[in-house]
Amino acid sequence: MRKVQFTETVLRDANQSLIATRLPYSKFEPILETMDKAGFYSAEVWGGATFDVCLRYLREDPWERLRKIRAKMPNTKLQMLLRGQNILGYKHYPDDVVRKFVEYSVKNGIDIIRIFDALNDVRNLEVAIDETVKQGAHASGTICFTTSPVHTLEKNVKMVKELKEMGVASICIKDMAGLMGPKEAYDLVSAIKDAVPELPLVIHTHCTTGLAYMTQLKAVEAGADVLDTAISPFSGGTSQPATESMVYALRHMGYEVDLNDKALVEMANFFKDVRADFLKDGTLDPISMSTDTQCLNYQIPGGMLSNLISQLKMMNAINRLDEVLEETPKVRADLGYPPLVTPTSQMVGSQAVQNVLAGERYKVVGKEIKAYCRGEYGRTPAPIDPDIQKKILGDTPLVKGRYADSLEPEFEKTKKELGDTAKSDEDVLSYIAFPQVAMAFFKDREAGFPPKEEKKKEEPKKQAAPAAAPKAVETAPIPAWQGHVYYTEVPAPTVPGYTSRPIPPFAASYQPPYLQMGMREDCTGTFTVTVNGKPYQVSVAKADAAAAPVAAAPAAAAPAPAPAPAAAPAPAPAPAPAATPAAAPAPAPAAAPAAAPAAGETAVNSPMPGSIFKIECSVGQSVKAGDTLIVLEAMKMEIEVSAPADGTVKSIAVSNGDTVNTDDLLVILG
Ligand code: CO
Repeated sequence: MRKVQFTETVLRDANQSLIATRLPYSKFEPILETMDKAGFYSAEVWGGATFDVCLRYLREDPWERLRKIRAKMPNTKLQMLLRGQNILGYKHYPDDVVRKFVEYSVKNGIDIIRIFDALNDVRNLEVAIDETVKQGAHASGTICFTTSPVHTLEKNVKMVKELKEMGVASICIKDMAGLMGPKEAYDLVSAIKDAVPELPLVIHTHCTTGLAYMTQLKAVEAGADVLDTAISPFSGGTSQPATESMVYALRHMGYEVDLNDKALVEMANFFKDVRADFLKDGTLDPISMSTDTQCLNYQIPGGMLSNLISQLKMMNAINRLDEVLEETPKVRADLGYPPLVTPTSQMVGSQAVQNVLAGERYKVVGKEIKAYCRGEYGRTPAPIDPDIQKKILGDTPLVKGRYADSLEPEFEKTKKELGDTAKSDEDVLSYIAFPQVAMAFFKDREAGFPPKEEKKKEEPKKQAAPAAAPKAVETAPIPAWQGHVYYTEVPAPTVPGYTSRPIPPFAASYQPPYLQMGMREDCTGTFTVTVNGKPYQVSVAKADAAAAPVAAAPAAAAPAPAPAPAAAPAPAPAPAPAATPAAAPAPAPAAAPAAAPAAGETAVNSPMPGSIFKIECSVGQSVKAGDTLIVLEAMKMEIEVSAPADGTVKSIAVSNGDTVNTDDLLVILG
């Protein structure tokens, strides 16, 4: 009987995929001893986003978390995810840092390190693999699954053989988007098993598109040895297949599975309660537990698709989505078919957006694409189109050899710089990986972790800063009833594959929220909405109506012009297609001058939660569409927020190091 083993992902990938890694140690501590008895091949508990989120949001030292898990789970192999030369982020670190990180991960309790590179460039894996082996741990060499004309079975087999030469103890096929179908899995596993039968083969995928259970089953039939699964309450959707379901199916099919069923039942009961808590507080969105096949149509990861849509909405150009989806595979081909994995997925997507909106391909090119074309990320699967590379780089020289070879050692230098601030070598590594986040954590730790309420109190101060901001912009965030505004004259935006549902008739006694809020039947009116705790007065009028009467604002917010549907300012989550595609909001007649001190001004809002890494503009500066205004740091990725239109910087609402949420105001352009 052939044996199939399991890696339980509930504490890392399931936690990351479903609840943004918000599971604090204290919440899962009570189940660790049970998990330790279950008999897993390994438990994935660390790396990926756990490190960043511990420091940033949970106020836990990630190293201490690891030591505590180790103490409670002496019998189970603990596993982490490492992004090769990028460690946990997206920039390349010098070799000494990669080696130290691996060394201390093993010293603090890690047994298995799954090592991958977004471009599948083995040169970005070799130092991490070498050090893992030196530390006596198990290096799992990973292939990022992707399809393209150049990602043939032969190419994958070649990579596996190279990984074997480097000393890996197992191979993992990692499909971070759930795009690998059962047939692809069967063929790929068969080819790899033929090439290196002695290495255990692990399958990692996600249920997002609904294929994962079938894919894992076919992978096992082709010879896969280990499956990544999550205990049922944290399975499905963007997470992994359910552990218990796979166990059941495989046993029935005659495979040997040595898992302790009693422990699995206890785990499931425990995590059901945990799930209920996260559902209640809204951290777990039930939609992330459902199946979404849209990414199969476009062959791009779900996260990338939602990024594209939000980027286009932000730029008031959602009506160009079809063109962008057509452009995306072309950009990917131009750039040598990188796997669509963070950060290349964002890079390819953003470039497709720029190519469409700028009206000329590669006219506007982000910093990261330039670095990619220079070779800073590694060797691309196929050569980059030489004409495009030339257009992007001009005379900038290419990176020769392996990029990390050009980096100076950093660990000892940083250790010296930090002095007493770092209490351990682990602190130094936390700082190197996430400088701003780690420094804030060290300060809070020093102060004995002041209660979070105090931090909240500081926020109004931050929000008060843009007091000079034009009021037109302050009214921009429109709450969830926005859909009602559309019904007037403007058809709903066209999103391919999305059909808007007809609204069922209301009961006679039912008062929709917009009426409760003081809007009239035709959805016009003046009322107050609260965004991030701050009241805004919003006045809605028809685009062709006379200026809406606007009463004095109750709070700091001043009278607002009417964000009539056809003239909604840029950040509205679903701008009406009738709006001019250019980002500058067309002032509707309703926005009468008296009520619109800031007509024609544009708010640039944060596209995602993160912290302000760099401010690359100053008040009074004139900027061109596409110029970088702010660099955000989000999950270690530098995200450039650029000007949606030509203009002058009127005000900057944030400072370095500020934490921002999606749609928070960053800059006002006039
Ligand atoms: Co994953």
